[in-house]
Order: sequence, then structure tokens, then C-alpha cells
Amino acid sequence: MCHKKDLTGNQLAIWQAGPHAKAFELLASDEAKAVGAKLGIENPQQSGACLKCHSTAYNGTEEVQNELIAVEDGVQCESCHGAGKNYKSKQIMEDRAQCIENGMVYPATKSCAKCHNDASPTWKPDRYTTKDGKPTGFDVEQAFDKIKHPNPAKAE
Ligand code: HEC
Ligand code: HEC
Ligand code: HEC
Repeated sequence: MCHKKDLTGNQLAIWQAGPHAKAFELLASDEAKAVGAKLGIENPQQSGACLKCHSTAYNGTEEVQNELIAVEDGVQCESCHGAGKNYKSKQIMEDRAQCIENGMVYPATKSCAKCHNDASPTWKPDRYTTKDGKPTGFDVEQAFDKIKHPNPAKAE
């Protein structure tokens, strides 16, 4: 509702165009079906073993944790920023300290490793290369650069 104005960075549009919004859809691909088949999973889009990381509704578990979140939305804002229920009011939103007090995860980069880890069946230990040339499965700085959605009206 709020984060879709260009003036403040349209985080919604950036998320929609990025990989996390497609995390559920991706589970219908031939590649995902092949990964599932090896693990005895017929339909990854219906398996908690996949949805625990590919959908916010499952929140890291093998069952739906919140019926109000559409499984189809894949990995949405709250997987990284924490449940918005208690910090979403305008008054709280205007004060970062209050947001954190009310459940906002900050910095949200603390959340990445919940899913970007070697429990993922497609984990590649050399997906990224660190600045000093070493292979690594996840480099938070480089990865965040691909999905960042800053508010240009606020300098960090
Ligand atoms: C521990 C979290 C986790 C689990 C469990 C998980 N995934 Fe993923 N998956 C990821 C992440 C994170 C990525 C993005 C690539 C990366 O950075 O590792 C990904 C990417 C993928 C990709 C794209 C290929 C690639 O290498 O980017 C496919 C296909 C996929 N997952 C299928 C599945 C299937 C099928 C299951 C269930 C059997 C599953 N995943 C379970 C976290 C997970
Ligand atoms: C994959 C994790 C992830 C997802 C998904 C995500 N964000 Fe973020 N977001 C971050 C990180 C990391 C930052 C940097 C600041 C921080 O660490 O909190 C950030 C920053 C922001 C900022 C602050 C911008 C600034 O410069 O002040 C806003 C607003 C924001 N996100 C809103 C959203 C909204 C709305 C969504 C969903 C449409 C969303 N984010 C989805 C990780 C994420
Ligand atoms: C709830 C699980 C979850 C969290 C938390 C999460 N991701 Fe992801 N991420 C995924 C999945 C699943 C994919 C694969 C989706 C796709 O390719 O459509 C993915 C894909 C990506 C990709 C594209 C693949 C690649 O490595 O180039 C990037 C970049 C990325 N995530 C960055 C981040 C960053 C940065 C954070 C933390 C701020 C983060 N993610 C937090 C689940 C998660």
C-alpha cells in the first residue's frame, strides 16, 4: 500500500521484478521438478520441504504459518524485514527505533542466511566470488546489490 511511489523508491516494483517474487513460480520449472524428483518430491509447489524457503507463508517451516499470506507471493518483504503487523502504522514507520522495537528486523541482511545456506538442494559453494578471489555460496554484499531497493529521499 505504501511502498509504491517512485519518489520514495517504489520497493514494491523492484521486488516484483526481482527473484524473490518468483520464488514460488520457480518451483514449477523443469529444473525444480528434477531437483524434487531426486528427493522423492512429486510437486515442489506443494512440498513444505521446498516452500519453507520459497514462500514467506511457510516462514522457514514445512507448514503454512500464516493463512493471510498468499503462498504464491513467494518470498515477500516480511521474510527479510520481519512481520509487519506491529510496525506498519505510519507513526511507528517514521521512527526506525520504534520499528525495531515492534518487530522490524534491522539490518535486514541478518535474514539472508535463513535461506541462502547449504540446506538448499541447489546450493552451489562457488556461486559467488569474494573480493579477495575465494569461491563462496553466498556473498551478502554482492547479493544485496542485485536486489537493493533504497529510498532515494533518505541517504543512509
Ligand atoms: C534452505 C532453503 C531452501 C530450500 C529448503 C529449498 N530451496 Fe530452492 N533455493 C533456495 C535459494 C536461496 C535459492 C537461490 C539460489 C541461491 O542463492 O542458493 C534457490 C534456488 C532454487 C532453484 C534455482 C536454481 C538455482 O541454482 O538458483 C531451484 C530450481 C530450486 N531452488 C528448487 C528447489 C526445490 C525443488 C526445493 C525442494 C526440494 C528447494 N528448492 C528447497 C533456497 C532453498
Ligand atoms: C530479500 C530480502 C528483502 C526483501 C524480500 C525485501 N527487502 Fe526491503 N530491504 C532489505 C535490506 C537488506 C535493506 C537495507 C536496509 C536494511 O538492512 O534494513 C532493505 C531496505 C528497505 C527499505 C529502506 C530503504 C531506505 O533506503 O531507507 C524499505 C522501505 C524496504 N526495504 C521496503 C521493502 C518492501 C516494501 C519490500 C516488499 C515489497 C521489501 N523491502 C522486500 C531486504 C529485503
Ligand atoms: C525466505 C527465504 C529467503 C530469504 C530470507 C532471502 N532469500 Fe534470496 N532467494 C530465495 C529464493 C528461494 C531464491 C530463488 C528465487 C528465484 O530465483 O526466483 C532467492 C534468490 C536470490 C537472488 C538471486 C540468485 C542469486 O544469488 O543471484 C539474490 C541475489 C538473493 N536471493 C539475495 C538475497 C539477499 C541479499 C537476502 C537478504 C537480504 C535474501 N536473498 C534473503 C530465498 C530467500
